[in-house]
Amino acid sequence: MRILILSRRKSFYSTRRIIRAARRRSHDVLVADPLEFYPVISRHRPSLYYRGESMEGIDLVIPRIGVSITPYGLALVRQFDMMGIPVLNNAIAIARSRDKLRSLQLLTKRDIDVPTTVCARSPTQLEHALHLVGGPPCIIKMPQGTHGVGVMIAETRKGLESLVETLWGMGHAILIQQYIASSRGRDVRVIVIGGRVVAAMRRTPAPGEFRSNLHRGGEGQPIDLEPAYARAAIAATKVIGLEVAGVDILETPSGPKILEVNSSPGLEGIEKTTRVGVAEALVRHGEKYVRTRRRRRRRGRGSYPGREDAVITAERRRTPRLGAAR
Ligand SMILES: Nc1ncnc2c1ncn2[C@@H]1O[C@H](COP(=O)(O)OP(=O)(O)O)[C@@H](O)[C@H]1O
Ligand SMILES: [Mg+2]
Repeated sequence: MRILILSRRKSFYSTRRIIRAARRRSHDVLVADPLEFYPVISRHRPSLYYRGESMEGIDLVIPRIGVSITPYGLALVRQFDMMGIPVLNNAIAIARSRDKLRSLQLLTKRDIDVPTTVCARSPTQLEHALHLVGGPPCIIKMPQGTHGVGVMIAETRKGLESLVETLWGMGHAILIQQYIASSRGRDVRVIVIGGRVVAAMRRTPAPGEFRSNLHRGGEGQPIDLEPAYARAAIAATKVIGLEVAGVDILETPSGPKILEVNSSPGLEGIEKTTRVGVAEALVRHGEKYVRTRRRRRRRGRGSYPGREDAVITAERRRTPRLGAAR
């Protein structure tokens, strides 16, 4: 196959690992900076150019779109999708995963447990919001944050007021979330690829820190994932519509609570911690994904494998409970 990896740099650990895994499986690999592409929108003929050349003959696109270029990156992924080229992940699913509020709404709709979250917009709502999330302390989040940036803790009511008023004043939307104290700052990161758990680790934050992100000095440790946690991670990935995901879960006495579902999970921390070849699993799944799509197309079932269409309709439909995800 000819695989295109959309990544700003070849030197990133995850990009390097995917290149190596794909070459080992005898694929032809191209790496290109998303910002060097320009989609051409024209009636019936969506196309794409890269440094003046038309981009053709690609069998699979693996987007590694950083948060700083989300809107442009998504337009690009959507263009590949519209041209009928398989992408891992699809633009709709990436957009959902980049918005914590939207993701949480979708997850709870499918009966997946999350920390109680309030999307407040005015100081008059704070008192009630605090009551609803059982704080202080409580967590304040910006819906588009990542790597722990944009996740804050308010220890007191006054602290909450000054934090949110500052953020509102700067034009940011915020979420006020139940602080799950029982997890003691730790969380579980689960990599789900093609509907299966590929690797899992527990992350412990650095001393004095409440965020366990490895970018914030957290440390990973491999774990055998309990079935309830595996089911929750798989269900959450499916709800968002991702083929490849890194799911963050808090451990509580009442079971897993999903924090977020990442669409371009970093591979370095999880591979070094668990010694699992996540990049190989990703490439293998890519091969299967392309085969399935081709088969479906031959059978006249259109160019989509179904899951992507299904996730859009599911957002509108009233849905039954997903008992397994409790
Ligand atoms: N509600 C919460 N209760 C306790 N800890 C939390 C909560 N939300 C986030 N955290 C901690 O902060 C980290 C970052 O939060 P997360 O929602 O995953 O945002 P990001 O996209 O920045 O990784 C989590 O991995 C966890 O350690
Ligand atoms: Mg996270």
